[in-house]
Amino acid sequence: MKSIKSIKELLSIVDSIEGWLTAYEQLALLHLPPSVDHLSGDIVEIGSFKGKSTIALALGSSFISSKKRPIYAIDPFVVPPFQYFWDNVKQHGLEHAIIPIKKHSEHALDDCPKSIAAIFIDGDHEYAAVKKDIIHYTPRVVQGGLVVFHDYCDYWPGVLHAVNELCKPEHFEYVMIYDSLLVLRKL
Ligand SMILES: C[S@@+](CC[C@H](N)C(=O)[O-])C[C@H]1O[C@@H](n2cnc3c(N)ncnc32)[C@H](O)[C@@H]1O
Repeated sequence: MKSIKSIKELLSIVDSIEGWLTAYEQLALLHLPPSVDHLSGDIVEIGSFKGKSTIALALGSSFISSKKRPIYAIDPFVVPPFQYFWDNVKQHGLEHAIIPIKKHSEHALDDCPKSIAAIFIDGDHEYAAVKKDIIHYTPRVVQGGLVVFHDYCDYWPGVLHAVNELCKPEHFEYVMIYDSLLVLRKL
């Protein structure tokens, strides 16, 4: 892999992978790792599917961030099987930049870093599951760290309700919304 890439090249890699991220959402994930360079902790994703978002985060970490932290990717990787994910990761030479955790998020706490600089939550979209992800994982996010949700929109009421109920403005500050990708900062 070349050591210098343009944003157009990075976006074309992310865009080529099957998934549901719009161009604005892809851009937001590419810039998530460098936006927490000043913080300690790791970068975690819940819900990886075939790796579109994981690869966006890993490219952002490898090419834009100064810290170049690996991405912890939590997903049972059952449907579709893990190979679909890992083939995409390998195709772009990112094996060194991604640590897969092949578990449901509720069973992955022991494998997940204790300190998190940024977390992208895009796993089970049911209200109870999103609520559990928030309760289990956001206490590990450092002060000033970013908590990012995909599908924060009317089409996914479970995500909308869990986030509105649990991420109160006293504890989480609104940063930006990129289509349905909501970025909050932990206060
Ligand atoms: C919407 S897809 C993720 C899309 C991915 N972020 C992307 O951009 O391509 C949801 C993923 O969450 C995973 N998933 C479902 N329940 C989960 C859970 N409890 N913990 C972690 N991942 C889960 C599914 O296996 C699926 O791959």
